[in-house]
Amino acid sequence: MPTMRNKKIILAITGSIAAYKAAFLTRLFIKQGAEIQVIMTPSAAAFITPLSLSTLSKRPVHSEVISEESWNNHVELGLWADAMVVAPATANTMAKLANGICDSMVGAVYLSAKCPIFFAPAMDLDMWKHPSTKKNLETLKSYGNEIIPVGHGELASGLVGDGRMAEPEDIVKFLNTHFEKKQSLKGKTAIVTAGPTFEAIDPVRFIGNRSTGKMGIAIAEKLADRGAKVHLILGPTAQKSDHEGVNTINVTSAEEMYQAATKHFKKANVAVMAAAVADYRPKTVSNKKIKKKEGDMAVELERTKDIAKALGETKKKGQLTIGFALETNNEKANAKGKVERKNFDFIVLNSLRDKGAGFGHDTNKVTFIFKDGSEKPLKLKLKTQVADEIVDEIEKLLND
Ligand code: CTP
Repeated sequence: MPTMRNKKIILAITGSIAAYKAAFLTRLFIKQGAEIQVIMTPSAAAFITPLSLSTLSKRPVHSEVISEESWNNHVELGLWADAMVVAPATANTMAKLANGICDSMVGAVYLSAKCPIFFAPAMDLDMWKHPSTKKNLETLKSYGNEIIPVGHGELASGLVGDGRMAEPEDIVKFLNTHFEKKQSLKGKTAIVTAGPTFEAIDPVRFIGNRSTGKMGIAIAEKLADRGAKVHLILGPTAQKSDHEGVNTINVTSAEEMYQAATKHFKKANVAVMAAAVADYRPKTVSNKKIKKKEGDMAVELERTKDIAKALGETKKKGQLTIGFALETNNEKANAKGKVERKNFDFIVLNSLRDKGAGFGHDTNKVTFIFKDGSEKPLKLKLKTQVADEIVDEIEKLLND
């Protein structure tokens, strides 16, 4: 059965001669059971009429953010879609989108979209080879967008080379592979701990940390994207997940996180421990607000339970545990020590010495360190991309 069934796809058409192929592409998507919303740049309409596309897609085509009839809500469209495909993608549109220029409906939807975005470039071979095009493609990739490889052959200019838009069948195949990959963890259950923990001192005060939970939430959503059932055990943070495949269990303290994690791990295939769990908590918690007095004051602390260690000790064959390490010095040796002590299958090492890594950022620079001592360093990436790579490793280990 095609994986495209019921998928909502935005097809963004830009002004290239290859735009005529967009009609066929729309038909192929519809044939596979997808819902298509076509949007166009004004120059695309010089190559193919909106009427053909609205007839094929059975929906009005939008090209202006504000049209004479209505205000077209690009934010809503951006949230509606499971995927956005820019085909054909001209050098001009890619340059604009790589730089956040928003002078058309395509630009507005691109900036609002929450779904994966695919580009099927189409241009003449010299434009394709130009360093500025290459740079823009790299920029788009760094945002997590995917580029559908161009074809080789005769171009509209009469020249022969690279730059032809991928054939509609190949674009559909590319999207199908994407949606298939998404269901690779169907039937699996995962738990993810994320965010900080707050350890109460009295009814109004606590010991906490600056973790936002963004990394853990991104992992939970990527696992759910691929069909896993996910329990996200989330400490107190303003961040949340609206993903329908993620069941969020809100907790406050390390003890509550421990209880939820040990309970749900029994039926889980994998546990990812991305939470910044407090290692210590106040030994006694006052049930009244503590009043200030003259002189200093000390709060006696005791150790909390180590969730990762507890799961590592009880894990059975076929269960995976993955940890995180945030280090400032002696990074690799410390991380390797944690893999051993906590019996992780692999650990995701963040070094606070790397720019863009750690708390609060949307990016992260990490190295995976595996049980057998092997290492895999990643470049600076968005946390959502790092999450995808972590889930790729989990998938490989589950299939081993
Ligand atoms: N972790 C956990 N429960 C705790 C403490 C840590 O599950 N009580 C998990 C974290 O979620 C992370 C990993 O253990 O995946 C590493 O945490 P870290 O605090 O860096 O490890 P420690 O062994 O406490 O090392 P240190 O304090 O010496 O850095």
